[in-house]
Amino acid sequence: MAATLRTTVNGMEFENPFLLASGPPGTNARVICRSFDLGWGGVVAKTISLDASKVINVSPRYAKLRDPVENKTIVGFENIELVSDRPFETWLEEFKQIKADYPNNILVASVMEEYDKQAWQEIIQRVQETGVDAFELNFSCPHGMPERKMGMAMGQNPDIAKKVCEWVMEVAEVPVWAKMTPNVANITEAPEACLNAGVDGISAINTILSVMGVNLKTLKPMPTVAGYSTPGGYSGQAVRPIALRQVMEITRAFPDTEVSGMGGISTGYDAAEFFLLGCSTVQVCTGAMLQGYEVISKLKAELLEVMNDHGCETIDDLKGKALEFFTTHTDLVERQAIAKAEKAATGRDDNWKGKIKDETDSLTSN
Ligand SMILES: Cc1cc2nc3c(=O)[nH]c(=O)nc-3n(C[C@H](O)[C@H](O)[C@H](O)COP(=O)(O)O)c2cc1C
Repeated sequence: MAATLRTTVNGMEFENPFLLASGPPGTNARVICRSFDLGWGGVVAKTISLDASKVINVSPRYAKLRDPVENKTIVGFENIELVSDRPFETWLEEFKQIKADYPNNILVASVMEEYDKQAWQEIIQRVQETGVDAFELNFSCPHGMPERKMGMAMGQNPDIAKKVCEWVMEVAEVPVWAKMTPNVANITEAPEACLNAGVDGISAINTILSVMGVNLKTLKPMPTVAGYSTPGGYSGQAVRPIALRQVMEITRAFPDTEVSGMGGISTGYDAAEFFLLGCSTVQVCTGAMLQGYEVISKLKAELLEVMNDHGCETIDDLKGKALEFFTTHTDLVERQAIAKAEKAATGRDDNWKGKIKDETDSLTSN
């Protein structure tokens, strides 16, 4: 049977497991609808909060890291963008409209609020009434919002993240994913706290705190706004190995949890690696910003190619297949010694050197 990308996660039926990650790709209803038309299985909309008037973005707010040899390919991307500055009421209208027009595509609302029970419960309840399929709790934005004790400030404090999840789960009637920051020493602590509070899944990773560089003409850090800068969030291909490691720690610690993996996915082959490490869905932000929404056709074809090559009919057949091959370094040393001994013992006949007695012994079991 040919492979299918259809998959069911937390009871939600995805046409395919590719979602646009929260950020510029899901910035309003027009572009979300366009991405559904082009074939994205789901969209996590740009993060929203109750009072958008507190959100003031700066420009420029992006900076690129280019391949140093050909100076064209973008390998890393930094942003200091905040959550959506569009009015909450506008978003409510748009969510309603999107779900009316695209009932079969999965729309996830990404929400963020201050440490206030009433605010969190209000945002969940009012957004839920629009018919969104799920929530993603943004505990992970690394710039700007932590100054207001939001975003990454919550993901770095498992007790606070747990409390917020408890408030949310009291009122949520659709699946809830908690989105993790990679800017922690132990990536499993906050997921554990959130799962103990009852969330349905984990998304990982958000961007990595970074300084893109210093302009050697002006001697100012970048991106430079009115002569100054602030550390931002790093994403794109360069972060993929870090994302894979952190996702792997989460999927190994919580094997029954649905994990939505992201960080540096720009091809369907990249996505396959996240599934092999135990993810159920994947998300793409920078990869779509740099290649366009149309990249979804290529992502789907490449993932299907990997699945067909390995006889996998569904995403579940691929899921977690590489996990059992992680071990400790000490174990690698032992395995290497055993493998060497076995190789020596089963040396090919044309390697025989003429020490017939030794060679006979090496092939004898007793
Ligand atoms: C410009 C930009 C804005 C972003 N805004 C948000 C956001 O509002 N909410 C959120 O949860 N993540 C946000 N992210 C993080 C992405 O969703 C994603 O977690 C991260 O970029 C890693 O994936 P990628 O390498 O595919 O971009 C943003 C990323 C970028 C590049």
